[in-house]
Amino acid sequence: MVAKSGYEKCAHLYDLFDTTENIEFFLRYGCEAGEVLDIGAGTGRIAIPLAERGVKVFCVEPSPAMRREFEKKLSALPEVSKNIELVAGDATSFKFPRTFPAAFLSGIFDHFLDDQERFSSLSNIAKHLETHGKLIFEVGLGYMKDSPMSPAGKVTQGDKEYRRFTEGKVLPEEKMEWLLVYEIYQSGKLAEKIEERSLAGIIDHPKLHRLLKETGFEIKREFGGYDFKEYKDGDLLLIIEAEKR
Ligand SMILES: C[S@@+](CC[C@H](N)C(=O)[O-])C[C@H]1O[C@@H](n2cnc3c(N)ncnc32)[C@H](O)[C@@H]1O
Repeated sequence: MVAKSGYEKCAHLYDLFDTTENIEFFLRYGCEAGEVLDIGAGTGRIAIPLAERGVKVFCVEPSPAMRREFEKKLSALPEVSKNIELVAGDATSFKFPRTFPAAFLSGIFDHFLDDQERFSSLSNIAKHLETHGKLIFEVGLGYMKDSPMSPAGKVTQGDKEYRRFTEGKVLPEEKMEWLLVYEIYQSGKLAEKIEERSLAGIIDHPKLHRLLKETGFEIKREFGGYDFKEYKDGDLLLIIEAEKR
């Protein structure tokens, strides 16, 4: 069976490839809010730079391997870790006994597989936001199609070279399967190959609008990139700034 979201085998490689592209974008919202709920916080790629700027970050992360990577980084950053609380949990069911001025879902909305999961995640997040609190998240609307295995990054560190490849396959019932392949070369020779499969849910723009409305959100802005350019039909990425009504 394909894991719902596949990070257990490759969490230690996550930061190598998924680096800084959207950090500045989220920092702008986080610094304005002062406190942030970071759901699906992963390895702390966004939470740590936020905490370094004095923002309090409350992180929820279901994957033990991703939390381990996050905790490893925090153990080397005792001052920064005072601004971070990391809990095991899932978007549908996490609980904090308070509300927040902002919530981030960076790279996780596509992991919600159906409307039931999207609805309960968005409702739970709305419960944890102050009135006018902001929800910022992206949806890979333009990525939800078959795509052949192709290179998705190459990183060299000393005598090691890390290569990543991805393949996407549309499945029945508005789902997709992603295959990530990592090849690790040592002194030019293939030393290790890791394959990780995961599932994603396919959603369209009108349905996303309906779900946000039903769960108590108002859409404020829609961007088509992390440079804050306005979204237009056909853009690969849709980034939403919504507000809790
Ligand atoms: C692409 S990573 C993004 C990590 C981090 N937000 C970042 O931007 O670097 C997606 C993360 O979402 C987490 N995730 C997947 N399904 C989730 C769910 N239902 N609730 C909360 N987190 C989830 C995964 O374990 C993974 O750490």
